[in-house]
Amino acid sequence: MKNMKPKTVLVTGAARGLGLELVRHHLQRGDHVAAWVRSSGPALEALRSASPQLLVMQADISRTVQVRQAADTLKQHWQQLDILYNNAGIYRAADLADLAETDLDQLSSMYEINAVGALRVAQQMLPLLHDGSVILNVSSEAGSLGQCWRKSEYAYAMSKAALNMGSLILSRAVKEQGIRVFVVHPGYLKTEMGGPGATDDTAERAACLAQITLNPQKIPADRIYIDHLGQPLPW
Ligand SMILES: NC(=O)c1ccc[n+]([C@@H]2O[C@H](COP(=O)([O-])OP(=O)(O)OC[C@H]3O[C@@H](n4cnc5c(N)ncnc54)[C@H](OP(=O)(O)O)[C@@H]3O)[C@@H](O)[C@H]2O)c1
Repeated sequence: MKNMKPKTVLVTGAARGLGLELVRHHLQRGDHVAAWVRSSGPALEALRSASPQLLVMQADISRTVQVRQAADTLKQHWQQLDILYNNAGIYRAADLADLAETDLDQLSSMYEINAVGALRVAQQMLPLLHDGSVILNVSSEAGSLGQCWRKSEYAYAMSKAALNMGSLILSRAVKEQGIRVFVVHPGYLKTEMGGPGATDDTAERAACLAQITLNPQKIPADRIYIDHLGQPLPW
């Protein structure tokens, strides 16, 4: 660990769940980490007390002004960004309902976070990205058109499918600059979002995602939508 050059790493949605574990993983590696949160929590504050290389910043990724302000603050600390995890996202269990009972007015607010949020952050951070930088957008198998099995959850699945498309376009746009973009299904995580039926250990999956961002060259250049092990998923 000590011989590895520290990375600069930005994680959104970092106060709990997968985001918190990504922060913890990279701090343990000795990296410099910016944790973006809507509001911090005790676990992140404990890390902040113990880790001088951790910056905690407030940003609701559905608000362009807040994202821009957080990005401007980060640019005062760092000249470049090596790894961006667009992790923040929301889910509503109430969407496990027939179309007749689905509140379609909620769809656009979920879209603003799950689909557009990642692009908002990437847009502001582009000036700090460089040849070798990696963007990992946390999506879901729910965003796959090719293997869709659902009969409900319109808002979540549609928002993640849109994130997949945004990620694909971005990956093509920044390819010449040597920036890799991945869009990843992390598994069925034991987090607040995953709920009681979840099967996958969140810290273990955070470590898997870090393997991807730290070793992007191990994944074929045309492979963008992947699982936590870097295996391709059907768009
Ligand atoms: N859990 C699963 O089984 C599963 C499966 C597939 C994909 N995913 C994806 O994995 C990612 C992480 O999920 P998780 O399981 O760790 O969920 P989680 O425990 O619910 O955590 C989600 C995080 O996103 C933050 N967030 C939500 N809306 C935000 C906004 N507008 N601006 C900034 N931050 C916001 C939350 O902040 P607050 O604390 O302020 O609410 C929270 O820190 C999500 O993108 C999710 O869709 C999860």
